[in-house]
Amino acid sequence: MSDTLSLTRAAKLIGVTRAELQKKIQHGEMISYDGTVTVENLLACYPDAQLEDTAETRRVAQIKERAFGKRVFERALPEPEVLAARITELSKAHANTQRQIKQFNVLLGNLWEKLTGIESQLDAQAREKLEDLKIWVKHEVEATMEPGFINPLTIKDAVLSITTAQVTVLPSKHDFLVEGHDTLLEAAMRSGIPLNYGCSGGNCGLCKARVVSGEVKKTRQHDFVISEAEKSQGYILLCSNTAVSDLVIEAEVADSVQDIPYQQINAHAKALGLISDDMILLHLQTPRTQRLRFLAGQSVTLRVGQSYSAELPIASCPCDDRNVLFHISRQTGNLFSDYVFDHLQPNEAVEIEGPHGEFILHDKSPRPLYFFAFDTGFAPIKSLIEHALSLEVENIHLHWIGSGPHSIYLPNIAHAWDDALDNFHYKEYVAGFDLRTVSGKRAQTLIKQLGRIVSADADLLQGDIYIAGPEDAVNIAEQYFLGKGLPKTRVAVASVK
Ligand code: FES
Repeated sequence: MSDTLSLTRAAKLIGVTRAELQKKIQHGEMISYDGTVTVENLLACYPDAQLEDTAETRRVAQIKERAFGKRVFERALPEPEVLAARITELSKAHANTQRQIKQFNVLLGNLWEKLTGIESQLDAQAREKLEDLKIWVKHEVEATMEPGFINPLTIKDAVLSITTAQVTVLPSKHDFLVEGHDTLLEAAMRSGIPLNYGCSGGNCGLCKARVVSGEVKKTRQHDFVISEAEKSQGYILLCSNTAVSDLVIEAEVADSVQDIPYQQINAHAKALGLISDDMILLHLQTPRTQRLRFLAGQSVTLRVGQSYSAELPIASCPCDDRNVLFHISRQTGNLFSDYVFDHLQPNEAVEIEGPHGEFILHDKSPRPLYFFAFDTGFAPIKSLIEHALSLEVENIHLHWIGSGPHSIYLPNIAHAWDDALDNFHYKEYVAGFDLRTVSGKRAQTLIKQLGRIVSADADLLQGDIYIAGPEDAVNIAEQYFLGKGLPKTRVAVASVK
């Protein structure tokens, strides 16, 4: 076990979130050097670290499963060959340590003989000093051989290195753990790291990256050809390899919407769930060889046949594999909405075009996140929150304001996050009027409501504000926060029809 650990690994070993460790570092309770902590510091902060998983780890894992749906967090042990390779690596390290101990024993024996050999050539004073030295060496050796305190973190780290591998991405310095059968690309996406990729099926080569150190294993054959020269330099496809050992890789990470290509994907309706009489949860799935690449919070255009299309925010996060979710509200006279409510069938083809929009998370911001969802503005906000949760952002607040009680159409999701995550806080409100048409008295009422929310939370104006919903309500909320002195860069908005 190395003396320094990345925050990701340290959090996993102790059984807490990265956010909790970051909080301790910010409060000066734990020292961090360049994103790492020492084992000594970690144990000083968590002297009761146990071998077993703590309740906190299980609790957070359960919440994530509930939050993202089982399909995202189905966990399994790695493939037998990967497990075998990791156990072999660990056995090699163990055998090497044993060999070194044997060599040190031999060295110690030789040293002892030499000391004894020169004893007779020394005068009385030097002999006495040599005798003291020999007694000291004997005591130290005996003390070293005594069974002592077994650091539970050392054992846990050895187990962790068999079930997971840590990957550090250069030059961005992101890191993530690869668990179960995940490819490197899948594991990065689950951790909210937007690595460059295209097809996710080994065809396009966009996920090509260089392994700087560590060992990978191909999980499938791929059509994209990596030249022999590139192979010898360590190039691999992230979508077709997993980590056998801890890795350092050089890979491109998308920093902005400009880094995401425009795509056209023939998906199909996997499921249609009626949330209420006026709201459908549309679950699309992309083909195995084509995954939609987008940043959380973005929108796409959906097309069914030649006649029906709509631009809609995505209500899931990029970490959700080939699944893309949408919240479709019934809008009488809107051809797309009518078609989805009255005719769309499971398995029917739906074309996805996009993504569009710049309503994305500024994930390098250290400020708390405040989300304001008006009615169906919850869709892009949900995508952002899921992304923020996968990044383990420390402080997330959601205020959902509905035109009526039924406009808060998925309260259980928000309540589940609030119940189970210490870093998530949720409140809901009913405006009592249609948030699509807000002016005059209604605008005053909405501003008063925002004022009450701000007065109840002294930190709110120190945070980053994300607002989504019908244009009227969004404009009023945006002006309200700008009027409070927040710069435009800290108030992100998205209009949702
Ligand atoms: S994403 Fe296309 S080859 Fe990996």
